[in-house]
Amino acid sequence: MSRLGCCPVSRSAPVVAVCLAALLLCNAFIYLYLESVYQAEEPRAAARAGCPPRHFKMATMKNCTPWLQCPEIRAEVRRLKLIGQGAVKKVYLAEWRTQKVALSSLSSEDYLEDFLHGLSMLQALQEPRVVQLVGFCLEDRLLATEFHPLGSLLNLDRVLARPQYRHLDTWQTRLRLAAEYVSVLDYLHSGPAGRRVMCDSNSAEKTLSQFLLTGDFHLVANDLDALPEADAAAGLLVKCGHRQLSGDFVAPEQLWPFADRGEPFSDELMPGYDEKTDIWKIPNVTWSLMGSVPGGDLVHFHLFQIHEQCKKADPRLRPSAGDVLKVYRSVYSGMVRDSSRDML
Ligand SMILES: Nc1ncnc2c1ncn2[C@@H]1O[C@H](COP(=O)(O)OP(=O)(O)OP(=O)(O)O)[C@@H](O)[C@H]1O
Ligand SMILES: *[C@@H]1O[C@H](CO)[C@@H](O)[C@H](O)[C@H]1NC(C)=O
Repeated sequence: MSRLGCCPVSRSAPVVAVCLAALLLCNAFIYLYLESVYQAEEPRAAARAGCPPRHFKMATMKNCTPWLQCPEIRAEVRRLKLIGQGAVKKVYLAEWRTQKVALSSLSSEDYLEDFLHGLSMLQALQEPRVVQLVGFCLEDRLLATEFHPLGSLLNLDRVLARPQYRHLDTWQTRLRLAAEYVSVLDYLHSGPAGRRVMCDSNSAEKTLSQFLLTGDFHLVANDLDALPEADAAAGLLVKCGHRQLSGDFVAPEQLWPFADRGEPFSDELMPGYDEKTDIWKIPNVTWSLMGSVPGGDLVHFHLFQIHEQCKKADPRLRPSAGDVLKVYRSVYSGMVRDSSRDML
């Protein structure tokens, strides 16, 4: 009689079978549990979901409310303190009724065009991956958005180092945020506003500062002041600003091509480019988001191949944000599966 056969060979076999079944079931439950914990990337049940267009609703509000306009902003929004100062906007923590909001005020009339562009993008791109618009008053150069107390994604390491959040400082949290960042790019590149290039991203820090960290450790795109439209197939190319860019964070096609001939930079002669510049930057941004968390090395190992494709010199050979996102998700769930198996 073969001991390796499938047929019961002794009286203890049923016991073994039951134990095995229990173990498998247990494994399946741990697996399902982990999936439900960590695959919370999307879709997110945002408070505003279900609101009609041009309305907002924050977590502690009962009803969807139309975007605030000048009279309400003037009468009901109270500035509490300055929390951010960029080139375009001064950002204040403010209060509307019992709600905290972020009130952005144009810093200088020189940047009016950027401010208006950012506002129109915010209006066009309202969905869970983008900060919620609460209202605006063009006359006073003001716009209000949902306030996120954890601030910009640039604070991630500091926030995760706080005692109450230290248990969240895992490769799971960080890889999920990286996937959400790629998911925002996917939305900007193929969303309702057409193919939008995230221009305000000449360094990893600058890129991270354009996102906010929500209280439940998701990210939302916040600063949409520099999203020109590109469509390479239709001959529509963009340039991110009028100045010469340098360094290896920006894509090679964003560098002045005649530098080695000693020709001085000329905005007019500088060729345009498309959204594939955002793809080039993904590996470096993900690197920043992962920090030096345990398990990070394994994440980098699994992402090595797709990151190599992101760094192709020819932008046409780089994958789309959607393709990168698929790989990130499969690496994420694969690693979750492996780590749940290791727990047994
Ligand atoms: N809704 C918000 N909740 C919390 N903090 C916010 C919010 N909006 C903005 N901030 C803070 O204010 C900073 C500046 O905001 P924002 O990037 O919109 O300004 P900006 O003038 O457009 O900046 P830039 O110089 O990048 O163009 C953010 O990095 C963030 O720290
Ligand atoms: C971007 O990532 C590449 C590859 O990991 C690295 O060589 C380079 O120094 C990084 N650049 C910046 C500006 O961080």
